[in-house]
Amino acid sequence: MEVLLATANQGKVKELKEMLKGEDAGILSLNDFPDFPDIEENGATFAENAMIKARTAALFTGLVTLADDSGLEVDALMGAPGVYSARFAGIPKNDGRNIDKLLAELQGVPEKERTARFRCCLAIVNPGGREYLTEGKVEGLILQSRRGKGGFGYDPVFYLPFLHKTMAELSLDEKNSLSHRAQAFRKGMPVLKELLKG
Ligand code: IMP
Repeated sequence: MEVLLATANQGKVKELKEMLKGEDAGILSLNDFPDFPDIEENGATFAENAMIKARTAALFTGLVTLADDSGLEVDALMGAPGVYSARFAGIPKNDGRNIDKLLAELQGVPEKERTARFRCCLAIVNPGGREYLTEGKVEGLILQSRRGKGGFGYDPVFYLPFLHKTMAELSLDEKNSLSHRAQAFRKGMPVLKELLKG
């Protein structure tokens, strides 16, 4: 049986393959569907965006489809950048400029008020009509400057107090063991395995 992960991001495909090891499932991505149309992610929440992507891709391909949407919520900015995380500093998307904008907006905000979280919603849609949503989140603090070279996005300024490290200072394995995305995907695995049994 084949499953579609509605992303062109090979890193996410690799993570899902790892989680489905031992299952009799082939994993396809949007790279396998060059005619797949651009989807406008115009939902107000991560859950809505994940569901829009999963429904559209399931309809287009006829496959059991997973789609995730994620981003950063900063309490002092009333939840921003949220669903605008990727394009916070405008288009074209740029991680460096996004971080610069975030640090500028948090200038003068004391450490204890710099609380934030990464949130990820995963939608699983069976073309037969069944739909599922799972969610994962990681709590942290936004630093005043960058630390670490790993990861992507906001990782260099996202500090995990319980590890005394930023996300960008974790190894890939460490990040994948605790990330918002890994949590959402892990919670979705029982549903997916059930769907794959038919
Ligand atoms: P997407 O859901 O993969 O499209 O992620 C949207 C945006 O949220 C990314 O472009 C990043 O700016 C941010 N983001 C999501 N997950 C992470 C993460 O694990 N680390 C850092 N930034 C992230």
